[in-house]
Amino acid sequence: MSEKPVLWLPRKVSDATVARARRDYEVILNEADTPASADEIVAMSARVDAMMPNHSEVFSTDVVARLDPRLRILANHSVGVDHCDLKALGARGIMVTNTPDVLSDATAEIAMLLMLGAARRAVEGDRLVRSGAWNFWSPSFMVGKQLTGARLGIIGMGRVGQSFARKARGFDMQVHYFNRTRLAVEDEAGAIYHDTIESVLAISDFLSLHCPSTPETRHLMNDHSLSLLPDGAVLVNTARGALVDEGALIRALESGKLMAAGLDCFEVEPGGNAEFAAHESIFMSPHIGSATTRTRDAMGFRALDNLDAFFRGDTPKDALT
Ligand code: DGY
Repeated sequence: MSEKPVLWLPRKVSDATVARARRDYEVILNEADTPASADEIVAMSARVDAMMPNHSEVFSTDVVARLDPRLRILANHSVGVDHCDLKALGARGIMVTNTPDVLSDATAEIAMLLMLGAARRAVEGDRLVRSGAWNFWSPSFMVGKQLTGARLGIIGMGRVGQSFARKARGFDMQVHYFNRTRLAVEDEAGAIYHDTIESVLAISDFLSLHCPSTPETRHLMNDHSLSLLPDGAVLVNTARGALVDEGALIRALESGKLMAAGLDCFEVEPGGNAEFAAHESIFMSPHIGSATTRTRDAMGFRALDNLDAFFRGDTPKDALT
């Protein structure tokens, strides 16, 4: 019998991650790479000591109550853990870890892409040229919104927010932020702190969301909060779909309150919101903020580092329970 702990990889992770996992664990792969249902997760918990879930595997209160006692650790292959009922997992004595730091730059890059694409009307421009329908040019044609010198509000100045702020400074944007706690002056790097969300909304020509999804932040951006933005603002969301009331977002775009939005996250995933397709002012990507080769390897290795520490008897670096 193998002495290696048994590890389930419910989705296809990078080849380098699988190779390293196989070296140290008895690995069960999901070759089909399909999302696991609650029943599949529960059934698998009786066969493994550890799982490496993603945000696509949901550990709700109900699922956690049904997990087999054999399962000892969820080493998430994600920084977000809104798919895990941490309180219930902690109460069952199951260790939960995540992968902070390693995906901050990749996610901030997608936020920059979405901000530029939304501001400079990338969907409309690409469609025009690609379709062969581009038959006109004038100084008044496809005029967008310039980043240089504009005020960027960031809600959630953790690692991703700070990485995004660094990139935005490269575009000479004035960075403002709201965070539960003010950063040290050296970490602010000139960013202006606001002690309320309302205050940062009021000056955000561009607004980018980088806070976690919790019951408190659900629909943070709603009819009221969107109304506080300057007219013609641009909203960027690379955090979680639940932060934005998508009906309110459409209303704000249709009224002209918002000029555009750049979205990597949606209330329903996969799939997104079919109503968004009619709005070329929404520039979208399918939840791929951390999807680069380098970052996927780093996420897998960070999750494996946490597993290794746990099975050595140490507290994993990214322990959450
Ligand atoms: C994360 O790590 O939380 C990303 O959204 C991908 O799951």
